Amino acid sequence: MENKAKFYITTPIYYPSGKFHIGTAYTTTLADTIKRYKTLRGYDAYLLTGTDEHGQKIQTVAEKNNKTPQEYVDAMAEEAKKLWKEMDIQYDDFIRTTEPRHTKIVQKIFDRFMETGDIYKGNYEGWYCMPCETYFTKTQLVDGRCPDCGREVHLMKEEAYFFNMKKYADRLLKYYDEHVEFVKPEYRKTEMINNFIKPGLEDLCVSRTSFDWGVKVLKDPKHIVYVWLDALTNYLTALGYMSDDETLFKKYWPADLQIVGKDIARFHLIYWPIFLMALDLPLPKTILVHNWIMMKDGKMSKSKGNVIYPEALIERYGLDATKYYLLREVPEAQDGLFTPEGFVERYNSNLCNDLGNLLNRTVAMCNKYFDGVVPQYNGTPNEIDLEFEKFTQEQIKKIEQLYDEYNISIALQEVWVLISRTNKYIDETLPWVLAKEKQIEKLESTIYHLIENLRKIALVLLPVMGNTSKEILRQLGIDNSNLKTWESLTKYNQITKTKVIQKGEPLFMRLNTEEEIDYIKKDMKS
Ligand code: MSP
Repeated sequence: MENKAKFYITTPIYYPSGKFHIGTAYTTTLADTIKRYKTLRGYDAYLLTGTDEHGQKIQTVAEKNNKTPQEYVDAMAEEAKKLWKEMDIQYDDFIRTTEPRHTKIVQKIFDRFMETGDIYKGNYEGWYCMPCETYFTKTQLVDGRCPDCGREVHLMKEEAYFFNMKKYADRLLKYYDEHVEFVKPEYRKTEMINNFIKPGLEDLCVSRTSFDWGVKVLKDPKHIVYVWLDALTNYLTALGYMSDDETLFKKYWPADLQIVGKDIARFHLIYWPIFLMALDLPLPKTILVHNWIMMKDGKMSKSKGNVIYPEALIERYGLDATKYYLLREVPEAQDGLFTPEGFVERYNSNLCNDLGNLLNRTVAMCNKYFDGVVPQYNGTPNEIDLEFEKFTQEQIKKIEQLYDEYNISIALQEVWVLISRTNKYIDETLPWVLAKEKQIEKLESTIYHLIENLRKIALVLLPVMGNTSKEILRQLGIDNSNLKTWESLTKYNQITKTKVIQKGEPLFMRLNTEEEIDYIKKDMKS
C-alpha cells in the first residue's frame, strides 16, 4: 500500500440553535471543496464537522420549543446531517459536543489545566453577550453593545475559573512571527495582534455557574465548562485524543487546515493555539479565516425577512449552481453579497452561456464535421493553437496555485477566464469556415483543442461542481480514468478513439430573469 500524505481539515462546529442558512452552508461547502481537491491531489484527506450543543442559548431555545435540551439537539443534529447529505458533503466524522467521547475528554482536559495551574478560580464580572456566550470588558463594547454581533449585553458577576492566557501571550506572538502559514489571510493576524494581544490579553473565563446545560467540572460540579473550551477541543476529541484509542489522533493531528468565519477568528487564532500550547500539542498548520455572505440590508436575520436557506436554491437550481454561487461570491479580502439578481445573472451568464454553450457548440461541431469521433490531433504546430495551448497551461498552473492557497473564489474566477478564452478560440479559428474551405487538418486540430480544453475545464471544476464535471466528461465520451486525473491536466494529445454523445444536452437551462428573481425574493420572506 502506498503511503499517502494526510490532510486533516475541520469546519467550525455549528450551534444548532436554528435552521442552517446559506452562510453556514458556505463554510461547510468550502471545507468540502478543499477536501475534494486534496483527495484529487492524492492526499488521505479527513474532514471533520459537527454541532456545538451546549450553552445557555441552546437551553433557552429548547425551552421555547417545549423540549429538553437533549431532545432539541438530537433533532437538530439530525437536521444538520440531512442537509449535509443533500449537499453531498463528504465528511468523515460528525462530532456532537454532547457525546460522551467528547464530554469525558473535556473534563480530563479541564482537570489537567487545573493541575498544571493554567486554570485558577476567581470572580468574574463583565458584560455578557448571550447569543455569543462571551463576556466583554467595558472597553471592548462598541456603543455599549456586543463588539462581535452588535446585540445587547448584560452586566453579570459570578464565581468562575479562569485560564491564564497572559502567560502565553509572548509565546503566541513568537509563534505568529515564525509561522507565516499559520493564519490566512495574513491581515487577520495583524487584527489579532493590534486589537487583542497588544492592548493586553485578558485571562479567559472558562466556567459558568449561571446555567447547567454543559459539561460539569469534575472536581467542582456546580461549575459548567465554558462553552469555548468545550467547543474548541472537539477538533481533538473527535480523533480520540486522551481516549483509549488514539490511532486517528496519532495519524491526523496536527490539523492541516481549520476553516472559520471572521466572527470566530479571535477564538481560533488566540485561545485555541494557547490551549494547544498548554497541552503541549503541535498547532494546526493553517487557520483560514473567511468573510461573510451578506444581504443588501446587512446580515441575514429572520426578523428582516432576508434569510436564504440552501435547500430552496438546491431544489430549484441544483446543487452545483448553488455551490458555485456561494464559493464564487466570497473573496478572500471582503464579504460577499447575495442578491437574487446576482444569483440569476451568474446562473445565466456564467453557467448557461459561458460554460453550457461552449460544451453544446463543441459537441455539435464534433458531430457535424466528424460524425462525433474526436479527431486526432497530429501536433503540427499552428500559431493560433500554440498560443492557445500556452495560455491554457499557464491558466491551469494559476488555478492550481489558487487551490493550493485555498483561494477558491479567485480560482473560480480564473476558471472562467479559461472558459472565455476557449470560447474566444472558436471565434479565432472559425471552424465553419475551415469546414467550408475544406481545411481539414486545421479543423481537426480546432475541434481536438476544444474537446481537450473542455476536458481540462471539467477537471479543474471537479472539486466544486462534481456533477457538472462528470456530465461534461460524459458528453465528451471520456471514460478513460487516466484522462480524469489532475496529473493529466498538463497533457495534450491523449484523447483517442473517443466518441462524443450524439445530441448534446444543455448543462443548465436558461432562466427567465424576472420570474426567478421574484421566486427567490418570495422564498426569502417565507
Ligand atoms: N459554535 C460556534 C463555533 C465553534 S467552533 C469550535 C459558532 N457557531 S455558528 O453556528 O454561529 O457559526 C458557525 C460558522 O458559520 C462560523 O464560522 C460563522 O462564521 C459561519 N457563518 C455564519 N453566518 C455566516 C454568513 N452569513 N456567511 C458566512 N459564514 C457565516 O460560531
